[in-house]
Amino acid sequence: MSTDSFLENHLQNLLNQSGLDPKKADKEFWNRFQNHLPIIQRLFEEIYGNHPSGEQEFLNLLQSLVEAYQSREKGLKKRDQEKQTQDIWFLSNKLAGMSLYVDRFAGDLKKMKSKLSHFEELGVNFLHLMPLFESPEGESDGGYAVSDFRKVDARFGTLEELIELRKKMHQKGMYLLLDIVLNHTSHHHEWARKAKAGDPHYQDFFYTYDNRWIPNEFEEAMPEIFPESAPGNFTWNEEMGKWVMTVFHTYQWDLNYTNPKVFRAMLENIFFYGNLGVDLLRIDAPAFIWKQTGTTCQNLPQAHTLLRLIKQCVQVSTPGMAILGEAIVAPKEIMKYFGTGEFIAQECDFAYNATQMALQWDMLASGETQVMLNAQHEILQKPYGTSWITYTRCHDDIGLGYDNYMIEQAGKDPFRHRQFLKEYYSFSGEQWMSPARGALFSSNPKTGDARISGTLASLCGLEKAQIENNAPAIDQSIQKILMMQAHSIFLGGLPMLFYGDEVGYTNDYSYQNDPGKSYDNRWMHRPKIDWEKVARKDQAGTVENRIFSGTKRLLEIRKEYALFSDLSNISWMSPHNIHVAGFVRRIGNERMYCVFNFSDKAAYLTWYAFREQGEGAEKLYDHWTNSEVIIGSSQEYLILEPYGFRILEPR
Ligand code: GLC
Repeated sequence: MSTDSFLENHLQNLLNQSGLDPKKADKEFWNRFQNHLPIIQRLFEEIYGNHPSGEQEFLNLLQSLVEAYQSREKGLKKRDQEKQTQDIWFLSNKLAGMSLYVDRFAGDLKKMKSKLSHFEELGVNFLHLMPLFESPEGESDGGYAVSDFRKVDARFGTLEELIELRKKMHQKGMYLLLDIVLNHTSHHHEWARKAKAGDPHYQDFFYTYDNRWIPNEFEEAMPEIFPESAPGNFTWNEEMGKWVMTVFHTYQWDLNYTNPKVFRAMLENIFFYGNLGVDLLRIDAPAFIWKQTGTTCQNLPQAHTLLRLIKQCVQVSTPGMAILGEAIVAPKEIMKYFGTGEFIAQECDFAYNATQMALQWDMLASGETQVMLNAQHEILQKPYGTSWITYTRCHDDIGLGYDNYMIEQAGKDPFRHRQFLKEYYSFSGEQWMSPARGALFSSNPKTGDARISGTLASLCGLEKAQIENNAPAIDQSIQKILMMQAHSIFLGGLPMLFYGDEVGYTNDYSYQNDPGKSYDNRWMHRPKIDWEKVARKDQAGTVENRIFSGTKRLLEIRKEYALFSDLSNISWMSPHNIHVAGFVRRIGNERMYCVFNFSDKAAYLTWYAFREQGEGAEKLYDHWTNSEVIIGSSQEYLILEPYGFRILEPR
C-alpha cells in the first residue's frame, strides 16, 4: 500500500483542495487527523491491505474524514469541545436515559417535542429514539431493516423535524442516542435493489451466491437468530437468481464488509448521524459484521478491527459522539467490545450490561444470588473510561446467554435451571404458581434455547395481580418493579429505562392481529402509549403514580451523589445472605451500600456484612426510605422486607 511520500503528497493535495486551515481555524482537527492517521492506516490495511481497491478506498476514506468535519455544524463543534473539557462526559451520574419508539410513544417527531416535559419530570435526559430511518412497513423489524439510511420514514416526519427536536433537546441539556444498523439493509435498500437487478458492483455489497455450496459450508457452523420466524441464514432471491446471506430476517440482507466500498459507505452514514447531532451512536448487532466459513460468524477478530477503525475515525471527525456496541453475546465476548490489548478502552465506549440484566431476572425467579455473583469476575473487567448501559428491559427479549459454569458453580444443573427460568417467565395459559406473565421468544427445538418476551411489569407479576384484582399481589409487583429498576439504576453505567415501564405498562397483545408483527412476540412489550393512562401518574395511590414517583425518586438519588458516576467504583458484598445482592459504590472516603432482597421472604443482614467492607458502619442512613438504621451489635439486623432494597450511607 501507500508509501510515506505518496501519502504525504496526497495529504498535501487534500489540504489544498479542501481549503482547510491547519495552522489556525482547523488546527485542532488537523492535529487529531494526524495523530490518528497511523492507527487508521494500520487498521485499514489489516482488513483491506490485500483488496484490489484497498489503496484507492483508503484515500477516499481520508477524504470522507475531512468532509465529515467540514460539514459539522459550528454548534456541534463547540459541543465537542465542551465535552472534552469534562473528565469523561458520559460517565456522569447526572445522565439517565430512556429508549422509545417515537410513533408508539408520541405519534411523530413533531409531537415528541411537546413530550419532553415528561422526561424532565421523571429525570430522564438521554433519549434513545428507536430507528427512525426509512423502513418498509410490514418488513421492518421495528425499524432495523433500513431502506434509506438518510431519509426519515414518513410515518415519523422529516429529517428537518428530527434536527429541530435534537436542537430543542440540546438546548434543554438533553442528549440524543440513535442507531446505525451496520450489519444489514432492507432488501428494498437501493443497493439491494440494484443487486437484484443484476448489477455485480452491488451484488458485491452483499454475500450473494449462485448455488448452495458456500451457503451450506457457512450453515454448518452458524447458529440461527430467529429459528422460528426466519430459520437458516440464507434466502433465495428469485429476481437475482442467487442466494443471499440473511442472518436475521429474510428481508434483512447482510452487508459484505470484506468490500472496502461497503465500509466507507457505512462510515459516511455514521458521520451523517454524527452531524445530525447524535451524542451516542448505537451500533446495532456489531458482533455479526464479519463472516467466515467454519465459524459462528459472530465476534470475529475482524469485527473488532472494524469497530476500532470506526472509533478512530469518529474521534477525528465527530469527536463528541460516543459509541455504543450492541453486542448481546456471551459475557466474556461482550467485554471484548471495550477493546483489548493496546486498544483497551479504544473500541466501544459503551456496551449493554446484558449479562447483569439477564442475571437480575435469574435472581428474581430463583430468589438467589450465586449465579449472578459467579459472573462478576467477568463483568468487573470493564476498563476504566468505558461504561455500561444498565437496564432491566429494552425492546428486545431477555436472553439467558450467560455461561453454564456460572450456574454449575452455584450447584445447579444449567439445563434444568434454564428450563425453570423459561417456565417461570412464560405463561402457558394454565394455572401455574409463577406470578410472571411473559412468553418464550425464538424457541429453538434443535438446541433447546429460548429467550423471554414481556414487559417489566408483566414479568414482575402486575398483569396477573391486576387480572385477579389482588391488592397484596399488586403491591408486591410494584415492589419488585422498583427493586429491579433500583438495582440497575445504582449499579454503575448509564441507566436506560424502557418507555412505558415508568408507568407500569403490562403486555399488549394487539400485535397478534397485525400480520407485519404477529410473527414476532417482542411486540408484546412495545406498547402504544395512552396518555390518559400516563396522566394517572398524577393521582396519588394509582399504580401509575406509585411506579412513576418511585422511579423518579431513584433517579433523583442517583443524580445527587457523584459516587454513582461510573468510575469503575463498584465492589460486591460477600453473600452473607444468599437472597440479598449487595454492592458498594465509593468515591474517596464516601461510600454507599446498595442492598436488594430478591426473595419473597424477609431477609436479615448483620453488621458483619457491612464491616467486611473495611471501615465498618453502625449507623446508616437509607436514602430510599429516608430513615436511619442502626446495626450495632450482633443481635441487631437490617431487615429487608420481601423484594425490599436500601441505599445506605454510613453516618
Ligand atoms: C438488534 C436489535 C433487534 C433487531 C436485530 C436485527 O439486536 O436490537 O431488535 O432485531 O438487531 O437488526
